[in-house]
Amino acid sequence: MKTQAKWIMSPKDLGGAAVSFVKNFNTNKTVKKATVCASAIGLYAFYLNGNRVGKGVLTPGWTSYRHRVQYQTYDVTSLLQAENNLELCVGEGWAVGYVGYSDTNHFFADHTSLIFWMEVLYTDGTREQLLSDASWEVYTSPILSGEIYHGETVDLTAPIELLGQAVECEVEGKLIPQVGEWIVENERIAPVEIFRTPKGELVLDFGQNLTGYVEIKIQGPRGSRIVLHHAEVLDKDGNLYTENLRAARNENIYVLSGGKDTFKPTFSFQGFRYVRLTEFPLETPDPESFRAIAVHSEMKRTGSFVCGNEKINQLYHNIVWGQKCNYLDLPTDCPQRDERLGWTGDAQIFFRAAAINYDVERFFEKWLGDVALEQHKNGAVAGIVPHCLQGKVTRISSAWGDAVTIIPWNLYVTYGSKKLLKKHFPMMKKWVDYIHAAGPEEYLWLEGRHYGDWLAMDNDPDRNDGATPTYFIASLYYLYSTSLLVKAGKVLGIDVSKYEALLPKIRAAIRARYVKDGDLRLVADTWKEGDPEPTLQTQTAYVLALYFGICDGDEANLFANRLAAMIRANGTRMTTGFVGTPYLLHALSENGHLELAYELLLQEKSPSWLYSVCHGATTMWEHWNSLKEDGSFWNPHMNSFNHYAYGAVLDWIVGVSVGIQPMESAPTYKEISIAPRPHACLGFADASILTRSGKVRVHWYYKGNTVYYEIEVPEDSIAHLRLPSGYTATLSGGTYHFAE
Ligand code: BGC
Repeated sequence: MKTQAKWIMSPKDLGGAAVSFVKNFNTNKTVKKATVCASAIGLYAFYLNGNRVGKGVLTPGWTSYRHRVQYQTYDVTSLLQAENNLELCVGEGWAVGYVGYSDTNHFFADHTSLIFWMEVLYTDGTREQLLSDASWEVYTSPILSGEIYHGETVDLTAPIELLGQAVECEVEGKLIPQVGEWIVENERIAPVEIFRTPKGELVLDFGQNLTGYVEIKIQGPRGSRIVLHHAEVLDKDGNLYTENLRAARNENIYVLSGGKDTFKPTFSFQGFRYVRLTEFPLETPDPESFRAIAVHSEMKRTGSFVCGNEKINQLYHNIVWGQKCNYLDLPTDCPQRDERLGWTGDAQIFFRAAAINYDVERFFEKWLGDVALEQHKNGAVAGIVPHCLQGKVTRISSAWGDAVTIIPWNLYVTYGSKKLLKKHFPMMKKWVDYIHAAGPEEYLWLEGRHYGDWLAMDNDPDRNDGATPTYFIASLYYLYSTSLLVKAGKVLGIDVSKYEALLPKIRAAIRARYVKDGDLRLVADTWKEGDPEPTLQTQTAYVLALYFGICDGDEANLFANRLAAMIRANGTRMTTGFVGTPYLLHALSENGHLELAYELLLQEKSPSWLYSVCHGATTMWEHWNSLKEDGSFWNPHMNSFNHYAYGAVLDWIVGVSVGIQPMESAPTYKEISIAPRPHACLGFADASILTRSGKVRVHWYYKGNTVYYEIEVPEDSIAHLRLPSGYTATLSGGTYHFAE
């Protein structure tokens, strides 16, 4: 929508304080329809006649602001009166405040600005427009500071002063209608406990690690203060642990008006389970006055899962919450420390699990739009989108950049949109071309610094990148991304013969370099002095070799046996990091080691999925042992208790154990592979997905040695069934029962 409205800014720079842009207007005829569009560089909250308008918070959301800025549209017909007061409060948010670690602010702009336009259609057919321009007035607001990382200060006793007339200004990014989901307030959670820590501090426990903020309803002496500090965990003594938040202060300060007040941040959010009442003006806090509000993108819930093992059910709960907490307008790594960024690797690793839990098409449509806009001319894709690191660059890394092939392809398989696939085909192609040009050898990627098997447990504990050689990983992902590009091209009717011809060459080059005498061996690789001795004897190396299909003949058996032996030798525990973990159980169960896959799933000692569950986790942890056995923590520089990557295992739980998988040949679950791989250790398992083609559900349960199956196929879909006995059938829409 093209508008004559002007971007406007405050005549005075108040540092981090939010300002209010105000305009009064009258309607003297009957209004048929009134529509408002608004956006900001920074974040805005829109009030009409004193009431907050719209369901969204943290609007206009986070895009690659230099390229594009979303505006939101509101129907305000029922809210208009004869005399109206418009107020848009604008804070710094991602665009102007600190972002990309605490040493970067003003990354996208050095001041906030606002744009607004309203069209009123009267019942007599006439129209009137109201646009932001220099006639608007700008006032101070009670929000004295509002920072994504540091929290918000709201002083209800602060005088509201006129700063002057707004000043027109220029904004670089193009205005676009909102493409993503609204960011909304979701669950409201009451504290489960209010207690004093051994240090004597007063702490609220909400029982759930979450992203959002605490709302407080209170009446107390005018001018008295509430100061809140947030944390995800308690330390081994039971005190609040905040070191892992790094420089993010996560501090909300409220000054009471003396009347009935409601406080919550407008331009900030926190990642927390515990909240310390560092200052509180009343004798005893009433639990009823506090609610933790979970804030995340509004997405339709599509998946459900339950099984006979309570710990696995808790793991599932943690996976879903890990997603909610980190799907806040874009897929972030974590919600609590001074990071909260759109890491590409994390997004692709978790994608398939994400698309089971929620309908994420629109969510990713928005983010991928920014990824495409930020793709370098040479095809490189940065580790973080939107890029927001002053003077720093993220690595151009395999498995991170590959998000641009993996996500569009899986979006297509899940939701069937060729339009989206077509839109992103050039991005996919440019990425593959970039790798192809990377060198020094044509069919391998043997250059650059990669994140590797991030946080794997098989390297020096001080290193983050795992022991699996990064060029091995890079070359395998090169093969994988090229294969996805070829599939996409075929679906779209684009000539991809050039890329198809690459596939056997890449594969052969990988084999020549990394497979020797029927096993994985490093035939040659470049490694720098000081790096650990490169070895392919890692679990992740075998997982990738199996999953990405580089085995010939009997090698798959041999590799799977090697992998299994390594896991057994490690006490039936994995050592895999971000890259190996998503495919680990698949590599085992596809190659004759289903039993071991289940043993790993149910393992409770670290590293394992259930270790965190056994230690009270309510979301996924960044490290397998973010909290160690002895009660100490992993290095606070990189220790989030809300990182979803390892939740990728849900793709195996639902896709293999329960056995529901979409088929590439007939997207949107028009054709479904149903191939349950039950195990008595779970007793029963029941999962459903509300797909674009309808609801698919599989429920299996044990009675004695017999497994009973109940299968629901969407009305217009076809399911290709394979039961463990080898029985196969083609099922059309309906409900079926089997036993064997
Ligand atoms: C993030 C990760 C991310 C990584 C890059 C970290 O700081 O939290 O999740 O993928 O950097 O390897």
